[in-house]
Amino acid sequence: MQAGFGKTVQFCPDLLYRAPVMDISNEILLGASALLGGELVAFPTETVYGLGADATSDKAVARLYAAKGRPSFNPLISHVADAGAAFVLGRFPDQAKALAARFWPGPLTIVVPRAANCPVSLLATAGLSSLALRVPDHALTLELLRAVQRPVVAPSANPSGRISPTTAEHVRAGLGDKLAVIIDGGPCEIGVESSVVSFVDHRAKLLRHGGLARDVLEQALGHRLDVELASQQPHSPGQMESHYAPHAQLRLNAELPQAGETFLGFGKHCHGPYTLSKSGDVVEAAANLFRLLHELDDRDAATIAVAPIPNEGLGEAINDRLRRAAAPRLV
Ligand code: TXA
Ligand code: MG
Repeated sequence: MQAGFGKTVQFCPDLLYRAPVMDISNEILLGASALLGGELVAFPTETVYGLGADATSDKAVARLYAAKGRPSFNPLISHVADAGAAFVLGRFPDQAKALAARFWPGPLTIVVPRAANCPVSLLATAGLSSLALRVPDHALTLELLRAVQRPVVAPSANPSGRISPTTAEHVRAGLGDKLAVIIDGGPCEIGVESSVVSFVDHRAKLLRHGGLARDVLEQALGHRLDVELASQQPHSPGQMESHYAPHAQLRLNAELPQAGETFLGFGKHCHGPYTLSKSGDVVEAAANLFRLLHELDDRDAATIAVAPIPNEGLGEAINDRLRRAAAPRLV
């Protein structure tokens, strides 16, 4: 394990009550403590190394997106220790349960509708009403997930636009200074990301080719899989259908609210109770974005006026998401 990189990991005494100390190694305790403290931890899986954060914390997830340097909020996979934990977070149809029973732990990600009261951050799912879940097949990481007893989101542990890491050394070279702990489990066995199968519509769909071959999946399902790779989806406002858009109209780059508008403030443009970040911090704003949009929708806001967000760091992803949410609807 490589830990530290100039940061102090807070030891979390609560962990001692969750699992017998003698059963958990120091590196797992350190990693689990860091995750529970909202920090980022890289861990090995059978596919590629993951950049992990507490899936239930908007702040930790915002920190993860910032570290990764993605220009938009791609929905993330929640990693859990076993299928039972996944079944609590998402609504699995029978076919999805069958795949989980057959292939987990393993290189398969299953996308299902979120369960009611699912605690996974809306930022982690980019505001979608669905959720991607996976039980990775690596002893150290399963131990880590059992120790934290909550879902851990993890994209591949490389800066955006770079090659996925298959050794701890790759991770250290790309992201080392942003991580509290890197758990070194040796080289990844599979080396390509998990296959992603969605059960959100009536029929199962393959959304990403990966470590589990399509014909193996089709054999298990007993029928052919529709393939809908992300790159084949239309890059038009129609794409918004699959993304979260509030019922309210959005007016962007607003410095002041107009009559009847609800204002979503940022930095020096704060009016009223709803604020993405008073101090003008884009990481904090990202953490609050989807939660606040949902809250304003629940309050039946007709028009939400959003303060200007600087197009720097996570600001780029926030503005991308706001533009999509403000685009004309295809109803
Ligand atoms: O092997 C893997 O899956 C690795 C390791 C670390 O587990 N993780 C990984 O994560 O590749 P990432 O973030 O690079 O890819 C996540 C994939 C993306 O293709 C994303 O679009 C899809 O999962 N995805 C996540 N949530 C989704 C959702 N709710 N609906 C549709 N696709 C989703
Ligand atoms: Mg990736």
